[in-house]
Amino acid sequence: MKYLILIFLLVSFSACSPEKSPRPEYVLVIHGGAGVMAPKDFTPELEKEYLDKLQEALDSGEAILKSGGTALDAVTAAVKLMEDSPLFNAGKGSVFSETGENEMDAAIMNGKDLSAGAVAGIRTIKNPILAARKVMEDSKHVLLVRDGAEKFAREHDVKIVDPSYFFTQKRYDALLKARKHGTVGAVALDRSGNLAAATSTGGMTNKMTGRVGDTPIIGAGNYANNNTCAVSATGHGNISCAIPLPMIFRL
Ligand code: GLY
Repeated sequence: MKYLILIFLLVSFSACSPEKSPRPEYVLVIHGGAGVMAPKDFTPELEKEYLDKLQEALDSGEAILKSGGTALDAVTAAVKLMEDSPLFNAGKGSVFSETGENEMDAAIMNGKDLSAGAVAGIRTIKNPILAARKVMEDSKHVLLVRDGAEKFAREHDVKIVDPSYFFTQKRYDALLKARKHGTVGAVALDRSGNLAAATSTGGMTNKMTGRVGDTPIIGAGNYANNNTCAVSATGHGNISCAIPLPMIFRL
């Protein structure tokens, strides 16, 4: 029996008494997909490795929220840190398509003004979430794909790497065996009451070239709206069963 292993961490801080303020001053929830594996392979050592990296990602986002920074900056920082790790199926640790390439998707949304940006099918952008944020802030569009997204990222000083950056033999062998999927994401509430969500993924192992999942589709894999909620989804995004977690709801 194999299981999809997902790990979530949450930090929430409240300085006010509950009578004065029903909501915490800030909240950050992150998720990191460890992929599909047999429980026996998810050793205590491996679990600790994942938890340590997730804690690092949580700390990086919390430092921003604590000092009055925005939910948008917090989710960007947390997701970027997970993209830089080979542990998760996003950025450096992205799975391989049927042609042995890495094609990544990412999206970000600001709950304050409903602005959003996303990239899909990209192969050379070191941090897909930074490219998604540039699309949101510096383009007149919401979703850019493949060469167009890469050209836009280059022109906006987002770091470009050779596709070999995403390759490690150990993970290549393991991933082909493991049918890995998983995604990383973060949702945050900042001290000003604004929500944001960010999600990043390498998609599904052995996917067809050009396959795009739920992650970069605003409202499917990623959504934030100050009036309602912030959501970052994970799971199998081919069919409508991506798991909408984590979430922050406005009550
Ligand atoms: N939920 C990630 C994907 O299916 O690509």
